[in-house]
Amino acid sequence: MVPKGKFIAFCGGEGAGKSTQIELLAAHLRRRGRDVLTTREPGGTPEGQQLRRLLLTPDGDGWEPMAETLLMVADRVQHLRRVIAPALEAGTDVLCDRYALSTLSYQGAGKGVAASFIRELHRQACDDFWPDLTIVLDIPPAVGLARSKRRLSKEKSDEDRFERLGLDFHDRVRTAFLDHVRKNPETSFLVDATQDISAIHDAIRGRVDALFEA
Ligand code: TYD
Repeated sequence: MVPKGKFIAFCGGEGAGKSTQIELLAAHLRRRGRDVLTTREPGGTPEGQQLRRLLLTPDGDGWEPMAETLLMVADRVQHLRRVIAPALEAGTDVLCDRYALSTLSYQGAGKGVAASFIRELHRQACDDFWPDLTIVLDIPPAVGLARSKRRLSKEKSDEDRFERLGLDFHDRVRTAFLDHVRKNPETSFLVDATQDISAIHDAIRGRVDALFEA
């Protein structure tokens, strides 16, 4: 596959405001004349929607971390092959709410599945395909979880499996995101998600515009 569009993933802890920022960035890129697809994981395909329910609702409370990892990757294989790769090939930019870095952070750092295994799985199952840029929205877990729980209850959503895990879990996830950005400055970008919406958007826009000019 020779991608013609840009692939940008958004990661970060719960309640960091990814979906708002994805919509703002999509609007910005469309104003620049780009064709943009917004999508998400888990659940970016019809098959993945079923996995999303299995993974995020209380029905999924019994998954072993390894099984959970394989299901996240199964979702990604469908999504990459059926949605992301065809769009990029057609010249569409893809903005994806979560991607492989979330598996490394949540199932790896958070739940103790070996990062080396997750990376190897990504190599074998997803052709080691990584975004041009991963934007990490960083928020202290206590702040993000409070926001996220408010939203879930407003939307009467039961997709709260990860929100119900403890602060120490979410601290490990956050540390993994921060470590990744520190080690991969060329392909990732850290934004302080406690800023107001327009300041966050301005920071993201600046970095993404630079990506298109590179
Ligand atoms: P998301 O829809 O981004 O939820 P939120 O908007 O509340 O952040 O992500 C759903 C959940 O799935 C989130 O709690 C993180 C988790 N997740 C993983 O644990 N591993 C993964 O590989 C992915 C893609 C998501």
